[in-house]
Amino acid sequence: MATVMSNKKVADGIGLLEVESSQGGKPGQFYMLRAWDQYPLLSRPISIFDVTEDRILFLYQIVGEGTRRFYELRPGDDLQIEGPFGNGFPEVKGSLALVGGGIGIAPLYYMAKKVTDADVYLGFSKEAYLTEEFRNVSKELHIRVGGTVLEQIDFKDYGTVIACGPHGMLKAVQQMQEVIGQPNHVYVSLENRMACGIGACLVCSVKCKDGRKKACTDGPVFPVEEVVFND
Ligand code: FES
Repeated sequence: MATVMSNKKVADGIGLLEVESSQGGKPGQFYMLRAWDQYPLLSRPISIFDVTEDRILFLYQIVGEGTRRFYELRPGDDLQIEGPFGNGFPEVKGSLALVGGGIGIAPLYYMAKKVTDADVYLGFSKEAYLTEEFRNVSKELHIRVGGTVLEQIDFKDYGTVIACGPHGMLKAVQQMQEVIGQPNHVYVSLENRMACGIGACLVCSVKCKDGRKKACTDGPVFPVEEVVFND
């Protein structure tokens, strides 16, 4: 169990939850969060937004009953957290672009804070949020509201590109990478549904070129050329 320290609305349907915990984690990893006891709601996988010595922050979007309950948490409430899980982002040397769409921006803040010299590209459908926070940890910050933020980035400018966002955006990232043709250059973090988070249930199965993998234990971060994106 962890204690909720704060829970702020940062945009319509988006919350930033801070819990007391020293369990930490790497950028790109996630926790399974649960703010209820009863069946049938399962824990929800939520990316690490930030870590300090005794705090973990999670940025979440309300997409159903489980995340709506996160929204109702108040300071002092208990929250079940398990983790950190997943492989996290790779170690990066050289120039780095972090590209996020929608709630896919969540895991990028901690990575930008760690590396300190990443260019960050954030795409929002309706309103931008946490922009000052991202500006403070980015070398350059690019923001797009409406349309696709991918139009603002040239993959050739970077040694590594890491992207997280909706399926259509990641598929477009793969097509852009194919044009460049450099393997192990572009990584995607997948937002698959999960149930167990530890490789036991197969709910998070990902179709890859060399067979099925599990987003929770093999990922959620994959070299983009490994993933088979369905239409
Ligand atoms: Fe159960 Fe990945 S969430 S195997």
